[in-house]
Amino acid sequence: MSRRAPTLGVFDSGIGGLTVVRHLRRLLPAWRIVYFGDTARVPYGTKSEATVRRFAGEAARFLTQFDVGHLVVACNTVSAVALRSLTREFHGLPIDGVIEPGAEAAVKATRSGRIGVIGTRATVASRAYEHAITEAARHAAAPRRAAGRRHAAVERLAGAGARVYAHACPLLVPLAEEGMANSKAAREVLREYLEPLRRRRIDTLILGCTHYPPFKASIRSVLGPRVTLIDSGEATARRLARTLRRNGAQRPRGRGSLRCYVSDIPRQFEAIGRRFLGHRLGRVWLVPQDDLPWFERRPIRGRE
Ligand code: DGL
Repeated sequence: MSRRAPTLGVFDSGIGGLTVVRHLRRLLPAWRIVYFGDTARVPYGTKSEATVRRFAGEAARFLTQFDVGHLVVACNTVSAVALRSLTREFHGLPIDGVIEPGAEAAVKATRSGRIGVIGTRATVASRAYEHAITEAARHAAAPRRAAGRRHAAVERLAGAGARVYAHACPLLVPLAEEGMANSKAAREVLREYLEPLRRRRIDTLILGCTHYPPFKASIRSVLGPRVTLIDSGEATARRLARTLRRNGAQRPRGRGSLRCYVSDIPRQFEAIGRRFLGHRLGRVWLVPQDDLPWFERRPIRGRE
């Protein structure tokens, strides 16, 4: 058995995935983490599914050169639209997205069965959370039914009448990057965005974008303390730690490490990374991207 610490490859469209790394470092402190943030092409949330799939494939290919034993897709947009294509392309490499763990945590938390989701336009349009919540509720309902114990909220979510209300919040990404997640402006924007969910009387809200955890306090001030906030990144780190323990994965000793690569402006990533990671980032490395020869290609008639 190799003595080298096992390695997790983690990627996001940019800096938001550091909110997932924060929990991975806490729960798996001895693991080595290699992170890639595609800062040259962020945001992904406004792009087509085909483009996000291509970018995700490239990011994963970059990380596989570090001999990663596990890949974590720390981006809701990629998890929503590209997880299946990644699993197909990197057959044999365990890949975790953030949607399923977030959906499972929400099903466990809800009492009324009325769940809200906020995310990028691409995540919301994909309806990935709606599908994952229905699936998670079916799993939760089956053993309860067999034991003769029914839970009305879970039954509703498992059936045709799932009450999941999703809303895109694109302005939150730049506000988080500017360090304005707890500003008056953020609370104003959140009041507008969250009003339709408040009217639906949700009792659980999934933060379906890795940029959103810094807004927890502002969201609580708008929705009140009775709405449970689900951080998909945290749920993902917990599930991965549990899986690794259960599978008897090699337990590394000593202190793990974090090495970050970006596709543009590492200095900016270093400067604002702290807001997402919770502590200072070390040196960030640049992966130069040579221009793709797209300008030599013939245009095709697009559908998206
Ligand atoms: N990290 C992305 C996500 O979780 C948000 C930023 C983007 O649009 O690329 O969906």
